[in-house]
Amino acid sequence: MSTTIFVCGATGTQGGALINNILGSPSVKAHAVARDLSTPASLSLLAAGVTLFQGDFNDEASLRTAMHGCTALFINLMPNLADVTQELAQAQRLLSVAREVGVTHVVYSSGFSADHPERRRHYDPNGFVTKLLFSKQRVESAVRTAGFKYYTIIRPGNFMTNMLAPHVGVMYAGLVEKAEITTAFTRDMVLPMIDPNDIGRFALAAFLQPARFNAQEFEIASELMPFEDVVKAIGRVMGREVKINYLSQEDIDEQIKTNPFLGGQLMMRDMVECVDMDKVRAWGIPLGTFGEFLERESGRVKTTYGL
Ligand SMILES: NC(=O)c1ccc[n+]([C@@H]2O[C@H](COP(=O)([O-])OP(=O)(O)OC[C@H]3O[C@@H](n4cnc5c(N)ncnc54)[C@H](OP(=O)(O)O)[C@@H]3O)[C@@H](O)[C@H]2O)c1
Repeated sequence: MSTTIFVCGATGTQGGALINNILGSPSVKAHAVARDLSTPASLSLLAAGVTLFQGDFNDEASLRTAMHGCTALFINLMPNLADVTQELAQAQRLLSVAREVGVTHVVYSSGFSADHPERRRHYDPNGFVTKLLFSKQRVESAVRTAGFKYYTIIRPGNFMTNMLAPHVGVMYAGLVEKAEITTAFTRDMVLPMIDPNDIGRFALAAFLQPARFNAQEFEIASELMPFEDVVKAIGRVMGREVKINYLSQEDIDEQIKTNPFLGGQLMMRDMVECVDMDKVRAWGIPLGTFGEFLERESGRVKTTYGL
């Protein structure tokens, strides 16, 4: 039986990566919705042959139209801090339509430790990352118990695209403008970096081998990298050395009152402990590196850093 996957977020990073992998796999077709069909991302999907409909995760009728004929569903949703119930409501809508149209396999792309955020070293019950992770935890539970023949939950690490616009400006303020970062990270910190293309590879592999991936839930990363090496690599593309200012605990305690992003950075300190790279490699799926990512995305790198 041929596989037709409804891909959430096809115009975005993860969904776009899955689409790219699907396009290289002639036996697999992709359906998707986008809120605006006239954007460059939508137009390029249409040109590539993706069956794309105008639609919205909040609009059940549009999902029903777009998911008709699909055998598989890739869920990837945006958390909404202003309404932490939104992600689950959208997931339930997608799962319900998927059941109606006869989807047999659901793959959900979640986040590191979403099953147990409270085990993290810098867990803060009121932190915004905690809210995001619990939002994903509720979706994981909905996927697990939805009764599909096959389900898979992948939990990707720190996206390599976080070093590109528009994300880099939020996550690493000062890097692009001043080649300087001030952070709650530690000097020896290692980040589990994931090339979004590898999320696409894992998701497609799961859809192509549903029995092997059924009821599997696991963290994935492409490469473990000391944060200082990530910054050095960016410094090399910028052609200048990047200065990193590591905040003291006293400074963090003071600044976190007005800068919630520091809580996010604290949570990232032990991210690396969530992933077992031997287990990731054991799936036999090729993994990218940050160097290859920067090379492949050289156009976006140049735009981001004004080169
Ligand atoms: N950055 C990281 O390091 C990291 C790590 C782990 C997990 N995550 C998670 O990854 C997710 C973000 O994924 P991403 O980076 O692929 O997102 P993204 O690039 O920002 O793309 C968002 C996609 O979602 C679509 N979308 C948003 N709201 C929609 C709606 N109401 N109806 C239909 N489509 C909608 C957008 O489509 P249109 O705008 O075209 O309609 C777009 O395709 C978040 O849940 C985040 O927590 C991120």
